[in-house]
Amino acid sequence: MSDAKQPVMAIHDLDCHYKGKQVLYGVNASFPPGKITVIAGRSGCGKTTLLRNALRLNEPSSGRIEFFGQDISHLSQEELMELRPRMGVLFQSGALIQSYTVAENVAVPLEQHTRMPLKLIERVVSRKLELVELEGAENSMPSELSGGMRKRAALARTLALDPEIVFFDEPSAGLDPVTAASLDELIVSLSRKLRITVVIVTHELTSIKRIADRMLFLDSGKAVFEGSLNQALASDLPPLQEFFRLSDPGQRFEEPD
Ligand SMILES: Nc1ncnc2c1ncn2[C@@H]1O[C@H](COP(=O)(O)OP(=O)(O)O)[C@@H](O)[C@H]1O
Ligand SMILES: [Mg+2]
Repeated sequence: MSDAKQPVMAIHDLDCHYKGKQVLYGVNASFPPGKITVIAGRSGCGKTTLLRNALRLNEPSSGRIEFFGQDISHLSQEELMELRPRMGVLFQSGALIQSYTVAENVAVPLEQHTRMPLKLIERVVSRKLELVELEGAENSMPSELSGGMRKRAALARTLALDPEIVFFDEPSAGLDPVTAASLDELIVSLSRKLRITVVIVTHELTSIKRIADRMLFLDSGKAVFEGSLNQALASDLPPLQEFFRLSDPGQRFEEPD
């Protein structure tokens, strides 16, 4: 059984507050190896906060975060630095450094975390650009790229250090539907090919159906569902049913045209 395998990451009883206001309530979640888990829920329900906590970019108020079974909740930022290369993240803004070429952007994590000689860095950068179908874009400036190409360049940078788990926060935000679909396909194919465990925050139903193996659903800071996509779609939990009903473009309008 694949579920018997140790999760790459597991979150236990996680609470998080912002300046006294509670945002996450006893969240449990696990991210099994090689699977794509979607974190979904309405805007403001705590998805980004959960992702930031998992990466220890936000301090949880209480609870435990395990990475390959190791409790990382109390590691210092210095200790975390050693684990950082194994965890990739692509934030919503996915900002590239505008004054750097694409290759220089992708090289940043390699320069920060490794002592690779320049020639090797160049080879790794080209290989990562090939992976995201941007071969030959080394010398382009971010401003010369389309929105979809910029996302892929940012993805190449995220993959630079061969992370075992990658977190995406609304990767398709701001892209047109066709570009968004091809980014989804790329994420799925890279996850399969490189055996990367993926966690994607999104509220786009079409995207969820395309990419999710599993789903974690948050409702006002509580994880009310965790299971396979099919279990999610068949669930009779009211918040989940409402989410699917309101997100389905085919059912959004009741009146026939
Ligand atoms: N830095 C912050 N300081 C205070 N409140 C915040 C901060 N970030 C998010 N929040 C609040 O926490 C809640 C969850 O936010 P967020 O995790 O961004 O939700 P989502 O990603 O699901 O839209 C929201 O009510 C939001 O206003
Ligand atoms: Mg968010």
